[in-house]
Amino acid sequence: MNKYALITGAGRGIGRAIAQRIAKNGYHVLINYRSNHEEAQRTLDAIVAQGGQGTLMPFDVSDAQAVQQNIEAWYKDHPNDYIELLVNNAGIRKDNLMVFLNPEDFDKVVSTNLSSFFYVTKLIVPEMIRHRNGRIVNIASLSGVKGTPGQTNYSAAKGGLIAATKALAQEIAKKHITVNAIAPGFIHTDMTEGLDEEMLKKFIPAARFGEPEEVAALVAFLASPEAAYITGECININGGLYS
Ligand code: NAI
Repeated sequence: MNKYALITGAGRGIGRAIAQRIAKNGYHVLINYRSNHEEAQRTLDAIVAQGGQGTLMPFDVSDAQAVQQNIEAWYKDHPNDYIELLVNNAGIRKDNLMVFLNPEDFDKVVSTNLSSFFYVTKLIVPEMIRHRNGRIVNIASLSGVKGTPGQTNYSAAKGGLIAATKALAQEIAKKHITVNAIAPGFIHTDMTEGLDEEMLKKFIPAARFGEPEEVAALVAFLASPEAAYITGECININGGLYS
């Protein structure tokens, strides 16, 4: 029987690194992405090249109906399987000082980074409960812990995600399901592409940005049997920038 893991936003960046890392641990990885089929296929090709298994699963995590249709269809096609590991990784940022921030960019960031957690997780948790086993890892952000100027929308969404992580963890701990968040600082991906790395590095004690594989290694640990007693936590991974 396959062990399934669903990674949202796994077409590139941190999500791709998580997908590749988790596949090494024997999971059949469901690679969610929104629209960039070629990038998602590259994630799948990398998994297959390392001897792993995966399936592409396109849908927009901020669209409750699309989430429901796709996840219900998967369960219908896999009546004897369930998703043991869920990584809510998909995210966007649309930065602006709050006085210039328009309501659309506030709502879009909240729906993609936070409401998506609710839409996806709500459909995955019942089967985890039935099997009395599961791991949920939510990719939050330093912005959700500390708050970042220019990111009131993103900070609110990620802060909400951390609080929801803690609440859900307490609801389902007895069912042997752990729910944790990871709060990365600056990680080398498309999301941080336009930032002034030379300037920002001066504020990071480790004097560098992190790599997606370093976040993926933490996800793999939280998904492992050894991490069964860690739940409701938000773990920083930021080179000492904030604790
Ligand atoms: P990225 O922009 O390279 O990847 C984000 C992925 O999410 C993309 O593949 C994108 O297509 C997907 N996505 C966006 N909206 C989606 C939607 N509605 N439905 C499905 N997929 C969607 O960025 P990165 O850096 O890999 O980000 C991954 C997660 O890590 C995000 O949640 C981000 O907020 C978080 N993060 C990243 C940090 C960094 O420094 N790169 C720092 C802190 C948190």
